[in-house]
Amino acid sequence: MIEFFKEYLPYLKNYKGKLTLAIFGMILVSVSTAAVAYLVKPVMDKIFVEQNLQMLYILPIFVVLAFLGKGIGAFLSSYYLTYIGEDVVRIMKDKMLRHIVALDLDFHLNKHSGELISRITNDISKIQGAIASDAVNFFKSLFTVVGLLAVVIYQSPKLALFSVVIIPVAIFPITIISKKIKKLSKKSQEQNSRLTSSLSEIFNNYEMVKAYNAQEYELKRFEKKNLDYFKINMKNVKNQQLLAPIFEVVGAISIVAVIIVGGREVLVTHELTTGGFFSFLTALSLLLDPLKRISNSYSKFQVAVAANERIKEIMSHPIMITSGLKKVDTIDEIEAKDLCLRYGDKEAVKKVNFKAKKGEMIGLVGDSGGGKSSVVNLLLRFYDPTSGEILINSKNMRDFDIEDLREHICVVSQRIYIVNDTVAANVAYGKEQDREKIVEVLKKANIYDYIKTLPDGIDTVLDEAGTNLSGGQRQRIAIARALYRDPDILILDEATSALDNKSEVSIMQTIEELKEKLIVFIVAHRLTTVENSDRILVFEHGEIVCQGDMQELKKSCESFKKLYSLS
Ligand SMILES: Nc1ncnc2c1ncn2[C@@H]1O[C@H](COP(=O)(O)OP(=O)(O)OP(=O)(O)O)[C@@H](O)[C@H]1O
Ligand SMILES: [Mg+2]
Repeated sequence: MIEFFKEYLPYLKNYKGKLTLAIFGMILVSVSTAAVAYLVKPVMDKIFVEQNLQMLYILPIFVVLAFLGKGIGAFLSSYYLTYIGEDVVRIMKDKMLRHIVALDLDFHLNKHSGELISRITNDISKIQGAIASDAVNFFKSLFTVVGLLAVVIYQSPKLALFSVVIIPVAIFPITIISKKIKKLSKKSQEQNSRLTSSLSEIFNNYEMVKAYNAQEYELKRFEKKNLDYFKINMKNVKNQQLLAPIFEVVGAISIVAVIIVGGREVLVTHELTTGGFFSFLTALSLLLDPLKRISNSYSKFQVAVAANERIKEIMSHPIMITSGLKKVDTIDEIEAKDLCLRYGDKEAVKKVNFKAKKGEMIGLVGDSGGGKSSVVNLLLRFYDPTSGEILINSKNMRDFDIEDLREHICVVSQRIYIVNDTVAANVAYGKEQDREKIVEVLKKANIYDYIKTLPDGIDTVLDEAGTNLSGGQRQRIAIARALYRDPDILILDEATSALDNKSEVSIMQTIEELKEKLIVFIVAHRLTTVENSDRILVFEHGEIVCQGDMQELKKSCESFKKLYSLS
């Protein structure tokens, strides 16, 4: 728990004013509560024992003042501590997403999106609870305990010592249960993210679930995970709820013991006045509530500590692909030298060599799983090569600023992401919207004729999954998006596969026209797509087995002949 606070302490620096007010509030609560307990003594002794009528009118004023102080203090401390907690959590969410989007593609491919969502929402909200409400309770109660202890000790140090001996006895079972809670919490949060993952899996693949009549199958899978989550959660709740009664019983025993011992002091030895004894007893019973709160927030804190560990796992995940410093002016030439890429044990690219200059179009063809998309991943620096290198203008790609590089290299792949926004925003995607240019690239991508017919033209809102577009239309929007960026290198990875022949020919014509200013890589299964390429690289099991233009390959390359005869 101390570790946890150490981690979040630096955040508090920005809230000095609010923190001061909160602490002032806590002190006010503590002093006022102590005053309430203390006032029992004069009320009993002066009013009831000594029967002082004047005091009957004076003392209630103090009692009201004490409660007023307690109220004001409680408001100040709760409001400002909650403010700080909520704000820290807000900042953390931003930070976490910033880190996650900066992580390598590899990380994202290996994690369920649902799990990441769960970490940002569920785990952080657990911490939110811890900072915003548990910490508030914890510290408020701690201050109150200090104040009340002062009264207890002031009224009778001997009795205080006696009752305080009992507390460590109560703490022992609590530490054991707390540890259990922490472990269970981590498990429960893991299970919760599994639940979220399977939900996002179902919703993302809804068409398939329906088409394959897999509703029952998916429901069963979900129900099982859901039930597991319930069981873990209930186990945890049981442990959490056990803490409070243990505390109460121990508290009651200590009060009973105090009544016996204290009663003797009043009745037999006369060391205490009746008022003093009742003030002591009030303070002691007032102590029970904040002590219970402390134990409660402590156990809840274990949940936050577990959540924090899961968040740290992500925040400390290293970014392997680091940016260089060199700025890219224009890319005139790109060269792959003995390029190899391995995903775990899988060797996807083996000793690949090629070179491309501005104005050239390179076709990549070959078997499925041949390594074409992997080469594309390397060209985009989604991965760094296991060995070998990619040279840009004869300099290693790693020396360049990675964001700058991606400004100059655009890809259109099979997976097309349509944003829930207008056509124009989808084309400009993150860039300033230049309407003329948007229309121009839409024309080049051979889709403007269709967009024109939409009710609001380029201001028509597309839905998120792009379901108000056909597969081919989506591809053309994606091509327009790439062209809008004026890239130096344009990579089309199966980007025209969903197009009819006419649209494809028209887009290929556009690309031919732009070719002068570009290096184009085209990955295609349809050989007609690459027939005008200056060079075609034929991939087989991660290797380039032949390269040359269409005519040369048809004559001399066995693998290409095979592909050709099949197409
Ligand atoms: N992220 C990954 N992790 C592990 N293995 C991968 C990963 N991506 C691809 N592979 C493997 O690497 C090999 C090459 O895949 P790649 O996607 O480059 O093929 P491809 O030539 O683009 O195939 P296709 O024509 O079907 O798109 C395949 O065997 C594939 O299973
Ligand atoms: Mg591929």
